[in-house]
Amino acid sequence: MPTAGELRVELGCGKGRFTVGTAQAEPEALIIAVERIPDAMVIAAERARDLDLKNVFFIDADAADLEAYFASGEVDRIYVNFCDPWPGARYAKRRLTHPGFLLRYRKVLSSGGEVHFKTDNHDLFEWSLFQFPKAGFRLSEVTRNLHENGPRGIMTDYEEKFYRLGTPINRCVGTMEELPSSENPL
Ligand SMILES: C[S@@+](CC[C@H](N)C(=O)[O-])C[C@H]1O[C@@H](n2cnc3c(N)ncnc32)[C@H](O)[C@@H]1O
Repeated sequence: MPTAGELRVELGCGKGRFTVGTAQAEPEALIIAVERIPDAMVIAAERARDLDLKNVFFIDADAADLEAYFASGEVDRIYVNFCDPWPGARYAKRRLTHPGFLLRYRKVLSSGGEVHFKTDNHDLFEWSLFQFPKAGFRLSEVTRNLHENGPRGIMTDYEEKFYRLGTPINRCVGTMEELPSSENPL
């Protein structure tokens, strides 16, 4: 899609409600959704096909392997929506907002590239707010109740379910800046 204004990558797209909604709303952006469970990804791909979307593609892959698919500096924005919270310190490295992942995102993001993060999980969100700066991302648009004054933005499948249950949705944006040299983020 050489005419694409922006390249955006969604990690763990699940059944793709957000993926197709975003692709539909922003036809000039190229959306690539990464999902490691093929059964979920197929549903997302069928949704895109049914809407005849031309600006969305899917990769059946692990978010840890982004560098195998994208060149350095190629990606403008990464979406991490309702990733698995992996409670307990033992599994922290599996969280998609762990510095190990954030440092990998740096390798494919363009200068000033962004990570847009949403979750229903309060503990994961509060923990993640400390991880972004460690990996050289400046935080903005931090909210602990995104839909407080009515629905905002395109919802994911999980988000719609939590919204209907009245669970507050947390959201923030991390913008890539220089990596702090003084500390080891891992
Ligand atoms: C809780 S679901 C959320 C799905 C969707 N983002 C939503 O909000 O409706 C998390 C999804 O991320 C996928 N996932 C988790 N870790 C992943 C990884 N390392 N690479 C790719 N996909 C991953 C899971 O297979 C699952 O479909």
